[in-house]
Amino acid sequence: MARDHGFHPLRITRIVDETPDARTYVFDARLPYRAGQFVTVRACGTYRSYSMSSSPDVDDELCVTVKRVPGGVVSAWMHAELKAGDVLETTLPSGSFCLRENDTPLIAFAGGSGITPVFSLVKSALAATSRTVRLLTANQDGESVIFRNALDELSRSHSGRFLLRHHLDDRQGWVTADEIRSVAEGALDGDFYVCGPEPYMAFVQGELDRIGVPDDRVLVERFTPAPDSATERAAEPVPEREGTVTVVMRGDRRTVNQRATETLIQTARRAGFSPPFSCEAGDCATCMAQITQGEAKMRVNNALDEDEVAEGWVLTCQGEPVTPHVTVVYD
Ligand SMILES: Cc1cc2nc3c(=O)[nH]c(=O)nc-3n(C[C@H](O)[C@H](O)[C@H](O)COP(=O)(O)OP(=O)(O)OC[C@H]3O[C@@H](n4cnc5c(N)ncnc54)[C@H](O)[C@@H]3O)c2cc1C
Ligand code: FES
Repeated sequence: MARDHGFHPLRITRIVDETPDARTYVFDARLPYRAGQFVTVRACGTYRSYSMSSSPDVDDELCVTVKRVPGGVVSAWMHAELKAGDVLETTLPSGSFCLRENDTPLIAFAGGSGITPVFSLVKSALAATSRTVRLLTANQDGESVIFRNALDELSRSHSGRFLLRHHLDDRQGWVTADEIRSVAEGALDGDFYVCGPEPYMAFVQGELDRIGVPDDRVLVERFTPAPDSATERAAEPVPEREGTVTVVMRGDRRTVNQRATETLIQTARRAGFSPPFSCEAGDCATCMAQITQGEAKMRVNNALDEDEVAEGWVLTCQGEPVTPHVTVVYD
């Protein structure tokens, strides 16, 4: 029996303006979730994931905070159309950008709207653990710092345990290697969390690597697919290989030849379908489908549990056929 990856109505009770282009949507729901997790919203005929900015250890209400992307299909629609009392359809919370069970320092690097899951993690770490917390936020200017007052207040109320640094590009230029090193200094045994625009994340990860932080201590949350993700690879020409993939969606059944390195979702698109997806990183399960013939291997799986995999469920954005004939059924 698969976990509940379906969509559920969540009613908005309040909308809070955080910055000129970021808003918090407060829901009346009491869903179980862990700090750092996200829900996937179904809106405008598509899917988008949004991390909880609330903490299950501190906040009574469940909140997501959405930055408006200029021209963005869902974020711009949410900012323009949604009001208190409206209902959004979302999945149950999921994701693995969560607190680990240990007492080591938590060191976080957040850029722009990447503060959203990090804010949740910081609040939970301070309230529910005895861990020390360090956070570097990076933003274009003072006006765009989401949760600035709340973070400053936390650093005052937890002084000695919570080290907070704000970096503003308009005053300081880009974040430097020295800033990253100074936040990490003396805490290399900690858990590192990174979330923000892709170039910022790549820079932070590169510096953490250079100063000797092991890969398995660095947790990243990507808001956009990684550069080497399935989406990017889709643009490259890929040779055909022996074997077929049959895709079934809403009773429509189409068979195409396999192509080397192609994921099942790419094959489904090549077959003329528009399969559901959101993160394309193996985190959200929006793209899940069931293999009814043959086998596929997932590159990354942060969303399905062992029982689901045993039943043939697969994240199609991550699954590649490993048998000559594969049939994949979207619900
Ligand atoms: C696990 C996960 C958690 C997320 N959590 C949050 C969150 O808490 N808050 C939040 O605001 N967003 C979050 N996102 C990003 C969110 O899902 C959408 O990608 C974002 O709102 C843009 O969607 P859109 O439909 O408005 O824009 P689209 O129409 O999809 O995109 C328009 C253009 O903007 C680019 N773009 C997409 N996302 C961004 C971005 N974040 N910044 C700049 N350019 C972008 C796209 O590449 C595209 O070129 C999360 C994404 C994931 C995968
Ligand atoms: S689209 Fe998110 S796991 Fe595949």
